Amino acid sequence: MKNLTADELRDMYLKFFESKGHAIIPGASVIPENDPTVLFTTAGMHPLVPYLMGQMPHPAGTRLTDVQKCVRTGDIDEVGDSAHLTFFEMLGNWSLNDYFKREAISWSYEFLTEKLGFKPEQLNVTVFRGEGKEGEEGYIPADEEAVEIWKSLGLPDERIFRLPREDNWWGPAGTTGPCGPDTEMFIDTGKEKCGAECRPGCHCGKYIEIWNDVFMQYNKNEEGKFVPLGRHNVDTGMGVERTICMMSGAPTVYDTEIFAPIMAKIEELSAESQLSGEERLRAKRIVADHMRTATFILCDPKGGVKPGNIGANYVLRRLIRRAVRYARQLGIGPGFTVKLAEVICEKYRHVYPELGANLEQCRLDLEAEENRFNATLDKGEAMYRKVAEQLKLHGQSQISGKTAFKLYDTFGFPLEMTVEMATKDGLSVDKEGFDEANRKHQELSRTTSAGSFKAGLQDNSEVVTRMHTATHLLHAALHKVLGPTANQKGSNITAERLRFDFTWPEKMTDGQIKETEKLVNDWISQGIEVTKKTTTVEEAKNEGAMALFGSKYGDQVSLYSIGDVSKEICCGPHVSNTKELGSFKIVKEQSSSAGVRRIKAVIGNMG
Ligand code: SER
Repeated sequence: MKNLTADELRDMYLKFFESKGHAIIPGASVIPENDPTVLFTTAGMHPLVPYLMGQMPHPAGTRLTDVQKCVRTGDIDEVGDSAHLTFFEMLGNWSLNDYFKREAISWSYEFLTEKLGFKPEQLNVTVFRGEGKEGEEGYIPADEEAVEIWKSLGLPDERIFRLPREDNWWGPAGTTGPCGPDTEMFIDTGKEKCGAECRPGCHCGKYIEIWNDVFMQYNKNEEGKFVPLGRHNVDTGMGVERTICMMSGAPTVYDTEIFAPIMAKIEELSAESQLSGEERLRAKRIVADHMRTATFILCDPKGGVKPGNIGANYVLRRLIRRAVRYARQLGIGPGFTVKLAEVICEKYRHVYPELGANLEQCRLDLEAEENRFNATLDKGEAMYRKVAEQLKLHGQSQISGKTAFKLYDTFGFPLEMTVEMATKDGLSVDKEGFDEANRKHQELSRTTSAGSFKAGLQDNSEVVTRMHTATHLLHAALHKVLGPTANQKGSNITAERLRFDFTWPEKMTDGQIKETEKLVNDWISQGIEVTKKTTTVEEAKNEGAMALFGSKYGDQVSLYSIGDVSKEICCGPHVSNTKELGSFKIVKEQSSSAGVRRIKAVIGNMG
């Protein structure tokens, strides 16, 4: 394989598909046009949905190719490892009811082996194995056509893996829309298998996915059914960063030429870091990733997304503030966001002219947000110092929950920072007390915030509160749809989505997902009151309350009831009426670990 730069790869890809009759079209804005269901563009096909559906002809024709800026922040907390990025570039080629599987697969093969120089023996592919029985409802045939095409290109059967929908089906991007079976291409790195089960799709690092050809011949309709679209589209996607990483032999994307100037600048700016080893590496990667994403969002030609408290604005604020926090740990001084944005714009402006044209505005926005957050942190730190001195004076070693909450609520000082500084000073923080104080505060502010719900305004803590109540409804719905063994294993809430893990041995069917979603939405529209009482664990359990298995509870617990729909021991906070949730949508159902499934869902107008 060749060692290419990202510039060379983009160029080679677009020219290759141009030689196959494709029009090179400009990538779209990273902020979606006219699509309220997502906060950012997440794949190359996204801006092309109306054309894939056949709603209108694309002005550039039926064969298109481009490179698309994509933002995916669902796994933001995992950034810092070797693989996750919140921004990436996706190369793609499309057939809008023009060519189909034979051409798409043959060209993928030709590009991988002849242009990129991978050896045919390195190539492994997966194809859709079909589901259901012929003649019965829900039947979708196996993609034998794709298998035959791969074989005709010389791939032996043992390197063609037939996998279920979970692995070999793509889309729709939202809940409805074009989708279909796909064939994914993996490069065998030559590493040992991690076990007998190791195959393409395994995350041990032996097989790296390089490209995905999706055959968009179905539409998922409002009832959750896959109906033939009546069109044979192709949608393919190849990630630039990952491909460059693999071809250069670099251990991670952060070690490629793409990130080199950004990482070098971070290194140069980080004077005396409190961190070392893995922790330091992780912090550097987080700063690099988040600043790259923030710069692309701020420079986007569509514009309009500024650091703020709602939706996409909040995601942007979170990216910048996380970068600031990790930068401080790296000993990087104020003004770094602008310095990094300059390096990033320099690296990309010849490909994305907006990174040149909009740099000035981006600078102003970054500077303002960084200053705002630094001032908050400085004030918080000063307050923290006072608190710590007082404690020491009185020979105490724990910061009370109330005090930690005051630092957070009055001075905007994040709990993590209080804990971090306290640990250094040999003090502890009463985190449960913090949660309790937070809950009390929520209850107080609920009455006043009722008005702003109506106006559609939400601050972050309100969104999280609503999501929290939504997890109770989801848990109750899963019990109704799947039965009492579908028990909560964990949950994680961010301002963008809720994540809910529960015990269940297999993939939920579309029918079950739909039914769960419908139950939750029905309860929301019924406007059920959420009530709370303080009781003992024993009594709560007698009343049939759900409690998290394995959790430790104090003598007195809070029992939250949502009409007769749900009763759970929990420390809140919750909304007071289910109506406040607006609406509920499951965006993903996937495996979490053996016997545990994971649902990602969104509420209201959060997309
Ligand atoms: N939409 C598909 C993906 O994101 C192929 O482009 O993988």
